[in-house]
Amino acid sequence: MRTSNLPINQDRLWDDLMVLAEITEKDKPYTRRSFTPTFLQGRDWLKARFEAAGLDTRIDAGGNLIGRRAGAKRGAGAIVVGSHSDTVPSGGRFDGAAGVLAGLEVARALQEAGHDLDHDLEIIDCLAEEVSAFGISCVGSRAIAGILTEEMLAYEGPGGERLAQAIARMGGDPQRLSEAKRSDITAFLELHIEQGPVLEAEHIDVGIVETIAGITRLEVTITGRADHAGTTPFNLRRDALVAAARAILAIQAIAREMAETGEGYFVATTGEIHAEPNAANVVPGRVRLILDARAERHPTMQRFVSRIKGEIPAVVAASGAELSSIATLSDAAPAHGDSGLCAALIDAAEKLGLTHRRMTSGAGHDAAHFSRIAPVAMVFTPCRDGRSHCPEEWAEPGEIAAGAATILRAVLAIDRHEATP
Ligand code: GLV
Ligand code: MN
Ligand code: MN
Repeated sequence: MRTSNLPINQDRLWDDLMVLAEITEKDKPYTRRSFTPTFLQGRDWLKARFEAAGLDTRIDAGGNLIGRRAGAKRGAGAIVVGSHSDTVPSGGRFDGAAGVLAGLEVARALQEAGHDLDHDLEIIDCLAEEVSAFGISCVGSRAIAGILTEEMLAYEGPGGERLAQAIARMGGDPQRLSEAKRSDITAFLELHIEQGPVLEAEHIDVGIVETIAGITRLEVTITGRADHAGTTPFNLRRDALVAAARAILAIQAIAREMAETGEGYFVATTGEIHAEPNAANVVPGRVRLILDARAERHPTMQRFVSRIKGEIPAVVAASGAELSSIATLSDAAPAHGDSGLCAALIDAAEKLGLTHRRMTSGAGHDAAHFSRIAPVAMVFTPCRDGRSHCPEEWAEPGEIAAGAATILRAVLAIDRHEATP
């Protein structure tokens, strides 16, 4: 990989990444969950970095932090580079942060070169990309795409707070959410670590993402009966957690079958369990499961959801409990990179002497929601052992800088209309 000719300041980008990473819950690195005081601390730092780079900085109605460098031609539209600064609990230092800070570095590189774009350049830290305590992901990018619904705004989080209130706490304005919706974006570009092992294994510098898997999240509620754990004989129990355990195994079996027989990439995970009353000496009375499924092709997802609805009630009933409801929390169809922008990224990588390949993303990204309103494309950079959503997540400074340089070159080509979405 040749990085010496990159107009990107690799050390500054890396230093920023490491400083932001240290804004974490101290006993649980790396945790900066959306809507928390730690997240707001990260946001304050980011805002100051945006301002120091000369970006005109604001928070939109959807709670997104936006830094803008005005273009020379009024009405030319905006080229947006963005990702997210929130993390999963005990997540990594690069998932999301690398994309926001790469965008900031692109803005600084242009500023320092005295290069004015015709288009506005915006760097966006999208609010709550990871699944938040409110049960949905990509809150900010959904707002920008105009698909953050009233129903979602009413989702309840910790202490009974509604998502709308939480967005307001982040500086957004849910009463005027329509103002966050955008129709002026010429191109949205996102750098992200791959979160998988392919680029590292194949010694490839950058991945160009053609498809982002669709994500559907279901909330499965199982009702049993809370009873004394010491006195209730087995034949009289209606243990909601035992029923949930069987349901989880059945869900996995269905998912594995879909992965083997369905078209394209498919995975599903039951990653959240809420048992009530969650006490050692009480037979569990009620369980809520959150199920996360990913599909490259939407019909595969539809078949999976209909099998879950058709088959899981009987599995739960066989354990003496009842399946009270299966609610769809969110249902995003697969998204696709714009062919013109993907070509611009490939051309940029080639001019920089970087190796590249096309890929599909099993992870969700803000770009998927931007794709509803604008042409998008993503650059993946390698990560060690494919690890992500864990503290071991790691990328090398040169790998992130190479991805940022690819974005910078593509921004210039899009601005000069050498690349057409
Ligand atoms: C985002 O990290 C996702 O859940 O794919
Ligand atoms: Mn993530
Ligand atoms: Mn991410």
